Amino acid sequence: MKILIKNIKSLIQVEQNPQLKIVGKQMNTLPTIDNAWLAIENDTIVGFGKMDDWEGISDWSNLTVIDATNKLVFPSYCDSHTHIVYAGSREGEFVDRINGLTYEQIFERGGGILNSAKKLANASEEELIESALQRLHEIMMQGTGAVEIKSGYGLSTTSELKMLRVIKKLKELSPLTIKATFLGAHALPKEYQESRRKYIDLLINEMMPKIAEEQLADYCDVFCEQNYFTKEETVEILTAAKKYGMIPKVHAEQLSNYGGVIAGVEVGAISVDHLEFVADAEIKALLNSDTMPTILPGAAFFLGLPLPPARKMIDAGLSVAVASDYNPGSSPSGNMNFMLSLCCVQYKMTPEEAINAATINSAYAMNLSKTHGSIAIGKQANVFITKEIPSYAFIPYSYGNNLVESIILNGKIIF
Ligand code: NIG
Ligand code: FE
Repeated sequence: MKILIKNIKSLIQVEQNPQLKIVGKQMNTLPTIDNAWLAIENDTIVGFGKMDDWEGISDWSNLTVIDATNKLVFPSYCDSHTHIVYAGSREGEFVDRINGLTYEQIFERGGGILNSAKKLANASEEELIESALQRLHEIMMQGTGAVEIKSGYGLSTTSELKMLRVIKKLKELSPLTIKATFLGAHALPKEYQESRRKYIDLLINEMMPKIAEEQLADYCDVFCEQNYFTKEETVEILTAAKKYGMIPKVHAEQLSNYGGVIAGVEVGAISVDHLEFVADAEIKALLNSDTMPTILPGAAFFLGLPLPPARKMIDAGLSVAVASDYNPGSSPSGNMNFMLSLCCVQYKMTPEEAINAATINSAYAMNLSKTHGSIAIGKQANVFITKEIPSYAFIPYSYGNNLVESIILNGKIIF
């Protein structure tokens, strides 16, 4: 199977010399080719260039030609932080927040993550697969081609394993590239309130060996926050996870400055995510690390939180990635186009910075930047074609709209 996309108004995020991530000032550059062609063979990008320099094709057998006149071609978005396996929804809590309760107060009443855990305990694997597949389809139609999915609404061995098995099944069923994260340390279940040590032992001594045995998780994540898990617990849990082959990630500095970033850097986390309460000490620590700071503007928007200092981090010379955090409590949308709009409007990131954050840097945050996140020879053919639009800045500008028209994943025309 071969695909040729021709007359592309602008081919976005083209890399002659592929990089694993785009850093600091460099993020303001987005390499593009105007009036371009792109060739795909099987599941791989095999060529691209300017239409003027196109030498034609020697073998036309099995070739599908797509004319992209007036349209742009992007590498599919990479969404490195989601919780899209869940049961039910939490719009009741949304209304409670409108009426004055905070996210923390709702949690203290047994809502929030614990509410989703109750719902998930009663859902079958089949139900969870079906609803997650619908959400995967929804984000795919909005341009996402690779996604990380966390457990963390199980909070018991049975339910955490159920969630991770569901994610494993989704890897088989969905055309999206999927990475799985064990987030047993998402919240302390009520029954362990007086014996937190027991829950941490359960995570490390019971859940992790089973997860490793069935190879259910690529990453392990901890919600490092007041009323959730301490910095010391975060380090302990993630250090143990590494022994079971899981790479650390951290939910860090979302509701307070609580040590999550420092903990993440200490254990060599691939990413630290949220970052609303990041201060200079965290920026300094990140500068001396390979950890990708990842902002989740959907959650900050939806919970009305202070904004993470994305501008300051980029200006300090850091890479920044952006992900959706798609989940029923703090970000019930996985629309990466909207995340781009939030990056530009609220965080004063340029469209170039926002697109780099949502493609190559977000790919880095799930160890996929060798194969995903840009248009480069040999990379996986995950691209989307836009509707007729004037420029790439039109995507964040045209907030709330979906300008994605066609989707190619693994070299197959999906839509
Ligand atoms: O990334 N911060 C912790 N976890 C999720 C929210 C989970 C929930 O409220 O269900 C987040 O925002
Ligand atoms: Fe999250």
